[in-house]
Amino acid sequence: MSEIAKIDVNGSVYEFPIIEGSENEKAIDISKLRGLTGGITTIDPGYKNTGSCESAITFLDGEKGILRYRGYSIEELADKADFLEVAYLLIFGNLPNAETLEKFKQDIKEHAVVDEDLKKIVDAFPRAAHPMGVLASLTSALTAFNPSSVDVDSEEAMYKAIVKIMGKFPVLVGWTMRKNQGMPFRYSDSSLGYVENILKMMFKKPGEKYVQNPILVDALDKLLILHADHEQNCSTSTVRIVGSAHAGLFASLSSGISALWGPLHGGANQAVLEMLEAIKEDGGDTKKYMAKAKDKSDPFRLMGFGHRVYKNFDPRAKIIKVAADEVLGDLGVEDPILDIAKGLEQEALKDDYFVKRKLYPNVDFYSGIIYRAMGIPTEMFTVMFALGRLPGWIAQWREMRLRKEPIGRPRQVYIGENSREFVKINRR
Ligand code: SDX
Repeated sequence: MSEIAKIDVNGSVYEFPIIEGSENEKAIDISKLRGLTGGITTIDPGYKNTGSCESAITFLDGEKGILRYRGYSIEELADKADFLEVAYLLIFGNLPNAETLEKFKQDIKEHAVVDEDLKKIVDAFPRAAHPMGVLASLTSALTAFNPSSVDVDSEEAMYKAIVKIMGKFPVLVGWTMRKNQGMPFRYSDSSLGYVENILKMMFKKPGEKYVQNPILVDALDKLLILHADHEQNCSTSTVRIVGSAHAGLFASLSSGISALWGPLHGGANQAVLEMLEAIKEDGGDTKKYMAKAKDKSDPFRLMGFGHRVYKNFDPRAKIIKVAADEVLGDLGVEDPILDIAKGLEQEALKDDYFVKRKLYPNVDFYSGIIYRAMGIPTEMFTVMFALGRLPGWIAQWREMRLRKEPIGRPRQVYIGENSREFVKINRR
């Protein structure tokens, strides 16, 4: 017998079932609230207390700093799996065996060709266009070049759409970077692994042999895994709600890219680097910026700090911080902003304002330092986040469609003008 919640509205008591998930999370099912109460709904700006769905993909515990993809800990996956193995796990629900993984990798390679006409879209953008805007447009444009909408109930059609976007997206990322850098576009190289291929498409200079650096390959593979999914974050919720209208997969993914671009979300990794650079330019005065972050009259926030769910520590930030030390050490890169970042973290961990509000470094705080050491331009940092988050978005979109979830359409409480008569313009 499930527990029940009772709501008393002016003496009328309404009962609602409490559902419990596989990790003992509990939620009041209010799906019958409006009907039972004659029109009363709930309101919860930012959905801080409201679940949008039941999902079997990612579990996170913000108090304990736990993050698991399909039951596997992020620590183990980052240490023992590769990105496409994790992508398969997220999308299809189980770790692939060697044969299945090899087929997945080959099928992705086969679909890594992007229609040449898509280049005309990239060419139309000014060189200074932000890469996230270019990427969102190219991803949406994929629909025009792959018009057959996805029959989600067909395993075969769904698999084909998945390997298509997993194959083409890295090429679009490469073209986005090359546009930003004024470099000729490159195509996918099917002789390479997924991450090696991405790095070569991004970095190979005309007329020069591109030599893979295993440190960069390993670092990027790990970063992509750490960014691969994060339950119902802003961009994933966007992908789900756009997909709930039965918009296509590519169009839904494009909306997720736009949401991720926001500096409060995935755009924070770029904002963190810009903040650390500003502090460095300002003589490394971290105390001044801590004071700005605490000053309510100052819109400045300590970018890369705080999280809607993690109120202890972001397990991804812990892994990335260690990786940042390793990568910069292996590359022999001395980056003063890493020291500034560590100084800021140490100060915030002792500062009452941050401790009271449980503000700790999140996934975006250290990732940009690695991207920069890898030679990735700051404006491309959020594109790298999108590259990692792609399989998570696909998995969440697919789950939502397979569960035949209704179209997302929240209610509201109207606070505008009451009914009033129209007045002709000569009498206003
Ligand atoms: C990502 O949801 C996900 O899972 C996202 C993500 C993913 O993998 O998809 O994890 C990726 O988006 C990580 C977050 C990246 N964003 C940033 O680093 C931007 C800086 N952080 C914040 O803007 C903020 O912490 C959020 C947006 C991340 C969370 O905001 P919430 O949960 O809405 O919290 P809030 O704004 O209500 O803040 C609570 C209090 C407020 O102070 P009071 O009104 O209580 O006095 O904490 C303060 C805020 O002013 N606060 C900060 C702060 N973050 C919150 N003060 C200074 N600096 C900050 N960074």
